[in-house]
Amino acid sequence: MSRYLLAVVFLILPFFSAADEVEVLHWWTSPGEKAAVEVMERQLNDKGLEWKDFGVEGGGGGKAMTVLKSRVISGNPPTAAQIRGKGIQEWASLGLLTAIDDVARQEEWDKKLPGLVSETLKFQGHYVAVPVNIHRNNWLWVNPEIFKKTGLELPETWNDVFRIAPQLKKAGYIPLAYGGEPWQASAIFESVLLATGGADFYRKTMVENDPEALTSKTMMETFETLAHIRTLFDDNSSRRSWDQATQLVIDGKAAMQLMGDWARGEFLLQDKQPGKDFLCIPAPGTQGAFVYNIDSFVMFNMPDEQQKKAQQTLASLLMNPAFQKEFNQKRGGIPALDLSEGQEVDICARKSRRDFNSSMEQGTLVPSTTHGMAAGERVQNVVSEVVSQFINDPGADPAKAVKQLSLAIQTIR
Ligand code: BGC
Repeated sequence: MSRYLLAVVFLILPFFSAADEVEVLHWWTSPGEKAAVEVMERQLNDKGLEWKDFGVEGGGGGKAMTVLKSRVISGNPPTAAQIRGKGIQEWASLGLLTAIDDVARQEEWDKKLPGLVSETLKFQGHYVAVPVNIHRNNWLWVNPEIFKKTGLELPETWNDVFRIAPQLKKAGYIPLAYGGEPWQASAIFESVLLATGGADFYRKTMVENDPEALTSKTMMETFETLAHIRTLFDDNSSRRSWDQATQLVIDGKAAMQLMGDWARGEFLLQDKQPGKDFLCIPAPGTQGAFVYNIDSFVMFNMPDEQQKKAQQTLASLLMNPAFQKEFNQKRGGIPALDLSEGQEVDICARKSRRDFNSSMEQGTLVPSTTHGMAAGERVQNVVSEVVSQFINDPGADPAKAVKQLSLAIQTIR
């Protein structure tokens, strides 16, 4: 190749690759999550686009949001980013997001998506985000072998868990696998809150932030149960990631873990069979209820026409039923597109879909606080901070924590 030609190639290459390249920020960095990202990457490549991975470590996405803010502030947003729930409205209100209405209209998203999902994705009537799944957060992942060996019954309530915990410990097992990160504490809190007060009380506290409900006796009971739950963890739990905690259940070191259904991806990746090698049962006291979380992607405003086209291709791919099926089989969760039952092969996903539909009918479907569906980022962060300080400090007083949480929420609202 002549020097002249080489120079031309080098000059135009960055423009072509930048336009055909889709840089996607996400926080799917555990082994199971990475396997699902590979599905996304492969299917995007099949559409002629380059995947530029922008994975930020840290379950729950807290770190990813910090990194995203600094990229946006420096005027260099990625093509797309994983943002959920109320965060979508917060980012859209800053005028930074591209409306995806053309693709949505052509592909009839309004007809295809359940109302609850499409409402979350719209800002002032325009689609500004694309969903890829619906997660259930109030799952308990169980190692059945441990229950078989110890002859213990599966728990249905927190009192059941407290009753069997001494026997599990005596037999050398950690009753509940946990990592001390704030969002993991918050995930336990929201399930306990739901178990203690029911769906209406959950909404009153976490969605409406009602001061009376926030300082009620039921809230006090919630924190008292959390104080008891602390005794179920092992001493090394602080700063353990959620997938390291899942690994303890997989390896037969811990009996259970309370975690969203992305945990299923870790079991499946290690060839564990649901219903045989691991069980998924509703978190104690939350049978029939469903704490949901919808993973979705937003597209940032881009000046370049080709990049806009690439964003539309990405949006269309993410909404493709075949993509959502393969993707969610790898990572857990259920496709956001089609809620009809009987399509999943996996027993946990089947149960999730059934319970999602029935909880919607019965009014027991509630948005996750931990994952930003119930309230904006500030409330989400305050709940995580107060609850994790409480859970991670063996001497913390429930009455003080109730006051602190209510005050913190009122202050930032
Ligand atoms: C996301 C899931 C993710 C989990 C752990 C949640 O906030 O919605 O998709 O797997 O965090 O990283």
